Amino acid sequence: MDKIVIHGGARLTGELQVLGAKNAALPLQCAALLGDSPTTYRHVPRLSDVQTMNQLLVGLGCAVEGDRTLTIDPTGVQEGPKEAPYELVKTMRASVTVMGPLLGRHGFARVSLPGGCAIGARPIDQHLRGFEALGAKIRMSHGYVEVKARRLKGARINFDMVTVGGTQNVMMAAAMAKGTTVLENAAREPEVQELAIVLGKMGAKIAGAGSSTIEIEGVDDLQGIDHAILPDRIEAGTFAIAAAITGGDLLLLDAPSSHMHAVIAKLEEAGAECRVEPEGLRVIGPEELAPIDLVTRPHPGFPTDMQAQMMVLATLARGQSVITETIFENRFMHVPELCRLGADIHVNGNVAVIRGKARYTGSIVMATDLRASACLVLAGLVAEGKTEIRRVYHLDRGYETIEKRLRKVGAKIRRYHGAPS
Ligand code: UD1
Repeated sequence: MDKIVIHGGARLTGELQVLGAKNAALPLQCAALLGDSPTTYRHVPRLSDVQTMNQLLVGLGCAVEGDRTLTIDPTGVQEGPKEAPYELVKTMRASVTVMGPLLGRHGFARVSLPGGCAIGARPIDQHLRGFEALGAKIRMSHGYVEVKARRLKGARINFDMVTVGGTQNVMMAAAMAKGTTVLENAAREPEVQELAIVLGKMGAKIAGAGSSTIEIEGVDDLQGIDHAILPDRIEAGTFAIAAAITGGDLLLLDAPSSHMHAVIAKLEEAGAECRVEPEGLRVIGPEELAPIDLVTRPHPGFPTDMQAQMMVLATLARGQSVITETIFENRFMHVPELCRLGADIHVNGNVAVIRGKARYTGSIVMATDLRASACLVLAGLVAEGKTEIRRVYHLDRGYETIEKRLRKVGAKIRRYHGAPS
């Protein structure tokens, strides 16, 4: 198992290319299942989650080729098993997103129930309620859920809560239903908009994506397309914080600033300078960081995927910050690790009170989930001495060669292969 070692204290300066968005790529890979010809995606990030999704698609009967430019040919799925096995779903929950397109196009899907994961229970009841409203029969047995329908029929569906995966899954099922579907209280995340753009290019009739009401008029056929995936707002936000906390100056090439308002607002509140330039977003760290309060919310609120990273910034500010997590019930697992490095954080339920200003000193730490790992990298960048991060496979799910890219802008960071876990 690999480990990452960082010698903290370097100021990060220069340019960093923001790569394609993981959270957009995964549902787009699933959307290729809806086409009757191959789909090609460009700017695909080289991440283990993308590979896991490819593996799942191959298991369903797709032919998959390439990586940065990825072609998915779904023509073999008709004969395939239409099943997402436990082994894949347990490593990546986004696997459940094959359900909507399989159901919409082939009338059947069998998917292992994902169960909980490190950051919370994460049920899929809203996905299933949506499919049921479209006329699907749902059956659970042996840890799997089966959804079945002859032809789905459009319906009005009001989600109980804002769910990104649920909105995407039901949207894909409805794209080939008979008649019109209206999704209310739909997620407004850029990755939902991106999926709607892709489905639209394939021939679907979708209006309102990006607002909380999405209307989908079902069509009989969808075609394969060619599409470049949008840049990753979470990767850009993580690098922006790296600039802010190291007193650095980074130009984040192609950063999708228009999707990053909540993060940029908090960076500015903390004293960082954020400038939207023609090539991307420039972030300049201040001499001293100011405390911030934030609450995670569905888009356009502050993203839960940036909470752990922003907490590192808060620990380095002079004064008290309060961070409230409202999306997931167990998303403070990074706190004990940050405290081991020198942070002063008290958690009460879903509220973390952070007292600055931490003086981090390097140590061995364990990555626990994807964004928690990113926050440990950030802490390592400012810690005195050597920080060693273990279980970096979590990091590889969402950040492509982060050590090489950060090294290019001045960080003293290296990966060692085959370290103990
Ligand atoms: C969520 C985040 C997304 C983030 C991703 C990975 C939100 C709204 N969503 O998306 O930004 O990129 O995690 O970290 O911020 N829920 C149910 N029943 C369902 C579906 C969801 O109760 O059927 C609950 C979840 O447990 C969670 C909330 O709704 O508390 C949002 O979940 P959802 O948006 O579906 O999760 P992801 O799609 O994984």
